[in-house]
Amino acid sequence: MLRNTYITDPEIYEIVVDELSRQEHNIEMIASESTAPLEVMELSGSIFTNKTLEGYPGSRFQAGSHEADRLEKLGVERAKELYGAEHANIQVYSGSTANYGVYAAILTTGDKVLSMRLDQGGHLTHGSSANFLSRVYDYDFYGVNEETEMIDYEALDYKAKEIQPKLIIAGGSSYPRLIDYERIGKTAKSVGAYFMVDMAHVSGLVAAKVIPSPVPYADFVSSSTTKTLCGPRSGFILCKKEHSKALDKGVFPGSIGSMHLTTMAAKAWIFKYAATDEFKNIMKQVLINSKKLAEELTSHGFRIVSGTTENHIVMVDLRSKGISGKLFQSALDKVGITVNKNQIPFDPASPFVTSGVRIGVTSITQRGLKEGEVKIIADIMNQVATSPEDEENLKICKRKAEELISKFPLYPSGSFND
Ligand SMILES: Cc1ncc(COP(=O)(O)O)c(C=O)c1O
Repeated sequence: MLRNTYITDPEIYEIVVDELSRQEHNIEMIASESTAPLEVMELSGSIFTNKTLEGYPGSRFQAGSHEADRLEKLGVERAKELYGAEHANIQVYSGSTANYGVYAAILTTGDKVLSMRLDQGGHLTHGSSANFLSRVYDYDFYGVNEETEMIDYEALDYKAKEIQPKLIIAGGSSYPRLIDYERIGKTAKSVGAYFMVDMAHVSGLVAAKVIPSPVPYADFVSSSTTKTLCGPRSGFILCKKEHSKALDKGVFPGSIGSMHLTTMAAKAWIFKYAATDEFKNIMKQVLINSKKLAEELTSHGFRIVSGTTENHIVMVDLRSKGISGKLFQSALDKVGITVNKNQIPFDPASPFVTSGVRIGVTSITQRGLKEGEVKIIADIMNQVATSPEDEENLKICKRKAEELISKFPLYPSGSFND
């Protein structure tokens, strides 16, 4: 691995090798993470790094685009086929820039947008005051029902009628349930709004057809490619044919510059791989593992937000254990289990402390862990939560976690030996 860097910059080499070791020895359960197949790594660092290119096949701003044209056309066709979409744009660099591309295509300054609250499951790029776009567009929010902790569709309808937004956004980063895309699509139509679904988190589950797809109901579907899709650090957008010209303009020149052909190649690869039985079986097991984790944690006295999960995310309310998300994240980190603190709906704690954690099962499922191993992880988590500041307890838990994960290599042995 990194033969040349090893010679020219041992300092950077060492950091990368240490990161490989960290991932290998830890139980990675950040819900937005996955393990990129080796082909995705290869392609992400390919010779296409050297090529600068803007525009679209047939109307480029630079010469020398023959191979890049072949690549982009192939990637677009694969994305369309995988998701049954009428049009795809695969130039965006990430899930965030995918959203910016849609905004640039259809919104002008001051337009009203209705999206899910960040502290109840939405995303920063959907209008958070921390994001610069909150100063450009006029965002308003819907949330979840306090009792069910599921989207309050009636309140969403009401708000849509009241504010008459130009765009309604569904999808988020910490919502563990399925979303009724058809219903929100109807609401959008009834008020003359565009409907965009940000499926960044669930795009792998959608590709594998193990959960419903937003594509038939949404004008635009944005996504990153690093989460359940298990691809490179990038993004893409799907849309109805009638919006294709506006979308492509919104992406380039609307919101990005030259393409990243390296990750575009890796995206094209993952769009093919995601149609295989191997990938579909991993995604099926992701759903089984997340349900199992929710059940096991419940049996240990944790409260699961909304009672269960219907995707790869388990949202855990830690108040019954008398600990904060911040403390639990840090104690689990010492044990070698990586999760992130996360606000739960109506959280009395700040985003820096939180009453909950968000746990994802994509990476562990890719490594081959099944229900039996998920039960062991839940048992370790419970033992950590019982005495999160007792260093002896954490040492015992660390040994158990290491023993478990050492049986499931991150990559086949020898993958990085050259
Ligand atoms: C729903 C959602 N949209 C967009 C993004 C941003 O994706 P990226 O990090 O690829 O820019 C995220 C990332 O966490 C997300 O959860």
